Amino acid sequence: MLKLLRSLDNAILNLNDFESLARRHLPKAIFGYVQGGADDGTTIQHNLRALDRLRMVPRVLRDVSACSQQVTLFGQSFASPFMIAPMGASAIVGHDADNAMARAARSARIPYILSANAITPIEEIGRAYPGCWFAGY
Ligand SMILES: Cc1cc2nc3c(=O)[nH]c(=O)nc-3n(C[C@H](O)[C@H](O)[C@H](O)COP(=O)(O)O)c2cc1C
Repeated sequence: MLKLLRSLDNAILNLNDFESLARRHLPKAIFGYVQGGADDGTTIQHNLRALDRLRMVPRVLRDVSACSQQVTLFGQSFASPFMIAPMGASAIVGHDADNAMARAARSARIPYILSANAITPIEEIGRAYPGCWFAGY
């Protein structure tokens, strides 16, 4: 996969660019599992419209030496208010995906949430990111 991404050079400029490439390379069922929303896709459309209403306001020549995105959630301190949401069966899309995401979240000091539907053993993820979260239901 890395080899493929490198060979594409500048073909990926934003996250949407991954979608058409993924469609070409993933088996149809796996692509559909990741790309699609639930049922008629109503919630995904609402979410996209809501996000589309937000704009970034560029502010230039500001002193950013003391900026911090640090946040405290449930008594734990994290570097940023972003997290990797629980995604079941990630390992069918990319071998070792759960471990890779857990390690990336740990090194970025953000939460990683292991899905109850993950197909990687919980003990393995516990070693990759001790104290990460688990979506139990
Ligand atoms: C491929 C995939 C698998 C998911 N699996 C789970 C899951 O097992 N458990 C869960 O609670 N949410 C699951 N979700 C939902 C995500 O945790 C998240 O709530 C949802 O994608 C909305 O966040 P987003 O707008 O950042 O994508 C899954 C989402 C995707 C795209």
